[in-house]
Amino acid sequence: MDRNGNEGADRPVILIGFMGAGKSTVGRWLSRRLSWRFLDTDAMIEARAGMTVSRIFETRGEDAFRETESAVIGELARLRGPAIVSTGGGVPLREDNRRVLRNIGYVVYLRVRPETVCRRLARDRSRPLLQGCDRNEKVTALLSARDPVYTETAHLTVDTDRKRPEQIGEEILSGIPGLSRQTEN
Ligand code: S3P
Repeated sequence: MDRNGNEGADRPVILIGFMGAGKSTVGRWLSRRLSWRFLDTDAMIEARAGMTVSRIFETRGEDAFRETESAVIGELARLRGPAIVSTGGGVPLREDNRRVLRNIGYVVYLRVRPETVCRRLARDRSRPLLQGCDRNEKVTALLSARDPVYTETAHLTVDTDRKRPEQIGEEILSGIPGLSRQTEN
């Protein structure tokens, strides 16, 4: 049992990684597969702020967004029982956030290559950090700075390039000790 009273297989599973890694898609797949509730930190931020992530960046700036993001992660520190949590790509950048994530659950890093991100998000307009710049250059720079942070934060790393969401989900299920037993039908 961990300090939050979560026992073995019932601990929340937290998905971290870069934009376009598939955290929300794989998170929803896992949530359906396990019948666990699904939480998404960007959705929690939007509910709290009453506006989209893009609008927060536009009207209040990135620093204000990061403050709200940390407040939401602070709320998650009280999370109990089974849940799948998909996190925004910048959450692990703050040490306090990293500590909370590792305390509440089993942290899984969905690793992705820059070219996969650029392909998947070619027409995306909802990621303010990737608008109005050379997207390939920005993704490569951000990803190489963040990869060591994601790796250090995670209990498990899963490569996602050229894989379907259900393949990634199955790898996560078999990679988390004590979890696959529960899912055998
Ligand atoms: C961000 C990732 C986004 C969102 C915001 C900032 C980041 O979430 O939180 O645009 O800094 O990587 P996704 O990773 O779900 O796209």
